[in-house]
Amino acid sequence: MQPQRRTIVTTAVNGTPVEALVDVRITLADFLREEAGCTSVHLGCEHGVCGACTVLLDGLPVRSCLRLAAQATGHAITTLEGVMQTERGKMIGQAFVEQFAMQCGFCTAGFALSLYHLLENAPEPITDRDIHETLGGHICRCTGYVSIVEAAKRLRDQRG
Ligand code: FES
Ligand code: FES
Repeated sequence: MQPQRRTIVTTAVNGTPVEALVDVRITLADFLREEAGCTSVHLGCEHGVCGACTVLLDGLPVRSCLRLAAQATGHAITTLEGVMQTERGKMIGQAFVEQFAMQCGFCTAGFALSLYHLLENAPEPITDRDIHETLGGHICRCTGYVSIVEAAKRLRDQRG
């Protein structure tokens, strides 16, 4: 008997049900891009280091390159497309633009999602160390990080 090579993944992406028959080995990142049309999910290192593929799984930041799509069945996924529908998401976008916190933008969705999680969930006060630890899980090849940290501090101060 041949081993099973395809499986049905049933999930909700940015509040919309998504169901697809996929290869059992497809990653959550590829599933989100190919089956849910979420092209904000970028693949850099594909082994959990760069953070470009970060999405929220039931509200928690995860590396979608390290998860199988099959593991998302029954769970809710939020990508940058979903976060940008929220007031906080729009504030993050504005702060990144006004602080020049992005250049090519390849890394930006990952930074924005981790920052969104911090701003939504961290108890007061959010310290500089909290910001550094949150953003420290992401790699940017363009900005030098200072502008991203400044955008994060501005958002922290707007929250408080
Ligand atoms: S592509 Fe997933 S962490 Fe780099
Ligand atoms: S803005 Fe280009 S990698 Fe971060």
